[in-house]
Amino acid sequence: MNFNIKASKYDSVSEPQSELAEELFELSLDYLPNTPPVLLDIGCGTGHLSLELASLFPKNLDCLDISKEMLKICKEKLQVNFPNIQWRLFENDAEDFEPDIMYDAIYCSATIQWFKDLPAFLAKLKRWLKPRGILAIGAFGEKTLQELHKAYKEVAARQVETKAKFYSKKELISIFKKAGFALEDSAECLYTQTFENPDIALKTLGNMGVTGTSKKPLNRMEIQKLKEALQKNSLDFTWELMAMVFRGFV
Ligand SMILES: C[S@@+](CC[C@H](N)C(=O)[O-])C[C@H]1O[C@@H](n2cnc3c(N)ncnc32)[C@H](O)[C@@H]1O
Repeated sequence: MNFNIKASKYDSVSEPQSELAEELFELSLDYLPNTPPVLLDIGCGTGHLSLELASLFPKNLDCLDISKEMLKICKEKLQVNFPNIQWRLFENDAEDFEPDIMYDAIYCSATIQWFKDLPAFLAKLKRWLKPRGILAIGAFGEKTLQELHKAYKEVAARQVETKAKFYSKKELISIFKKAGFALEDSAECLYTQTFENPDIALKTLGNMGVTGTSKKPLNRMEIQKLKEALQKNSLDFTWELMAMVFRGFV
């Protein structure tokens, strides 16, 4: 998924991601040290979460993203809103990153669905945390976009093909446990994103990168049928937001 071409539209279509970032930030506050923390935001995008983290006036804030264009927007916001705090931006694939410092808290919101090998990534990431450091994960659950999946299956008799992988909470806890992380706290909610019409719905989801990655895209007639099915069934789309705080164990 190429977030570079979606970057300029991302802020106008990413209400669910913004809501998740907010939930995760709130949940994590009780687990941060009393002194200014050293923080990393993985998959920072345009900075929904990075800006919240910057508002804590951390000792250091590192923001990492694979997309140069997303980082550019994040940088502009940090420059305008937090010119006086210590932040650094890294244009990197998180799965290949090696930091030069250790963190009190590592955040990753609305991003793990894109990782190729989540267990391998977590095994590495564990070494980046200071003792008692936390890993704060914001993820979308399996109910996410169930309305789209249902309509797509009705029309095309196959699943939506997307590189994004949405895990259940149970699955995630098990993956994190195997990598040496124990769940400390969590919060979930269902968020509804309502669209005026099917055209706007599909365009918005395309700009988020949820649709449009198929090797076998729908033909014109199928797209028309999909729009009709969405119009008939529902233009309210569910996002299952899951905020989780983990701690590493040995
Ligand atoms: C849905 S956006 C979420 C952005 C931000 N965390 C938020 O809450 O709005 C996902 C972000 O993850 C980034 N991303 C995807 N795969 C990545 C990877 N392997 N390494 C680093 N960033 C990645 C994308 O470029 C994109 O900015």
